[in-house]
Amino acid sequence: MEELSLHILDLVQNSLGASATKVEIHIEEDVSRDRFLLEVRDNGGGMTKEFVEEVLSPFTTTRTTRRVGLGLSLLDMAAQRCGGGVEIDTELGKGTRIRAVFQHSHWDRAPLGDIGATLMTIIAANPEIHLIYEHRVGERIFILDTEEIKDALGRDIPLNNMAVLGWLEEYMAQGLDELYGGEEGWRP
Ligand SMILES: Nc1ncnc2c1ncn2[C@@H]1O[C@H](COP(=O)(O)OP(=O)(O)OP(=O)(O)O)[C@@H](O)[C@H]1O
Ligand SMILES: [Mg+2]
Repeated sequence: MEELSLHILDLVQNSLGASATKVEIHIEEDVSRDRFLLEVRDNGGGMTKEFVEEVLSPFTTTRTTRRVGLGLSLLDMAAQRCGGGVEIDTELGKGTRIRAVFQHSHWDRAPLGDIGATLMTIIAANPEIHLIYEHRVGERIFILDTEEIKDALGRDIPLNNMAVLGWLEEYMAQGLDELYGGEEGWRP
């Protein structure tokens, strides 16, 4: 996968596949420690210890359509190539936390890519889930919390309403712009 946002899409799809109703995406870019952290937490069904030990292998999946599950093993390979790796914390019936660490400046670290479009895709297809996106760059932080937006909108208007999606897209674009605003020309 070329962009980290595509890994994020896969992680969120895994969470939704595990019946999560709440998914949190955390990104922490710490340039001073040369670290790029990506974390996805969910309240889905979790995995057993035995399964987790196998899950970073490309041959592990509960899919029935094909035998090979690639998402997590590709992420792990991408992170390891960049001096990091993937850590999985999970509890059956409680949820899962997947954490991927990369050396921020590593030549092979893929860019974050179009995270705005990725989040819009997730929200448009799953307007009912509670999605939190928290992105830190140094001291700056951008947060999108779909529950807060639903509260502000009133419960009658779904998040995948066209006008709402348009507004969300603007909000994301502006928020991410401000996140990187301090460093001219610098992008993840
Ligand atoms: N957040 C999660 N909660 C519960 N189970 C998970 C979670 N993430 C992954 N899994 C389990 O791990 C398996 C492997 O996930 P992985 O993303 O590597 O492959 P996949 O989703 O099966 O296929 P692909 O990502 O290639 O479409 C999944 O099939 C699922 O059973
Ligand atoms: Mg997957």
